[in-house]
Amino acid sequence: MTTTTSGTPMVKAEGVHKSFGAAHILKGIDLEVAPREVFCLIGPSGSGKSTFLRCINHLEKVNAGRLSVDGELVGYRQKGDKLYELKDSEVALKRRDIGMVFQRFNLFPHMTAIENVMEAPIQVKGESKAVARARAERLLDRVGLSDKAKNYPSQLSGGQQQRVAIARALAMEPKLMLFDEPTSALDPELVGDVLDVMRGLAEDGMTMIVVTHEMGFAREVGDSLVFMDEGVVVESGHPRDVLTNPQHDRTKSFLSKVL
Ligand SMILES: Nc1ncnc2c1ncn2[C@@H]1O[C@H](COP(=O)(O)OP(=O)(O)O)[C@@H](O)[C@H]1O
Ligand SMILES: [Mg+2]
Repeated sequence: MTTTTSGTPMVKAEGVHKSFGAAHILKGIDLEVAPREVFCLIGPSGSGKSTFLRCINHLEKVNAGRLSVDGELVGYRQKGDKLYELKDSEVALKRRDIGMVFQRFNLFPHMTAIENVMEAPIQVKGESKAVARARAERLLDRVGLSDKAKNYPSQLSGGQQQRVAIARALAMEPKLMLFDEPTSALDPELVGDVLDVMRGLAEDGMTMIVVTHEMGFAREVGDSLVFMDEGVVVESGHPRDVLTNPQHDRTKSFLSKVL
């Protein structure tokens, strides 16, 4: 898909470094995600995948390098050749454009499914309840949960909660969706419904970065696949190529454990 799109990448990382104290976690990440691309990210636990997503979403500051979303630097404004750090309010505005779905669904437990989906547009964008409700109904339908609108999270399965979490992220009409191991906490029989929702999003042209261990999903839905280890991109390419013909020993060894 990279070849069919032109212009500004949705995400561009150039030499991105991130440390926590003395721990050097991201050691120069270079990658590009095109609009409408489904970009899968795999790698062992602790390799920095979540940290990288958090940098994209302005939850962590990069220490060196450049990271931009839709042509705009994350966390900074450029004037001439000088960079100015964004204020918290400006960061919050930018974060609205990026939806994030976590391993743990983090729904508001005291709100019904539909209230969870309505909440951010009302609170953050000042949208009317009627407008927010109409969209939430549409989104719950899209994730196959129209009949669960009035259920509380505790009355839903993990897979259903995760689909509500996806609908909640979509309610802000993001231009980019980040998924951090969205099916890892689910019982195996619930994984498929969540992946189906993600597949539908991909077909509708959503730009998605998906950290996952679901190699079948990566192979079928992904446009590109990156293998990350110890804070560097070891290997990237078309999912089929990386999965069936890995070039690096570290990739081979990782895949032999997960495939
Ligand atoms: N806020 C933090 N403070 C200190 N260390 C962190 C923090 N967040 C992540 N780390 C460390 O960064 C490393 C990479 O973590 P993470 O990005 O979560 O990896 P992955 O998602 O690939 O499993 C881990 O060693 C983790 O302990
Ligand atoms: Mg992680």
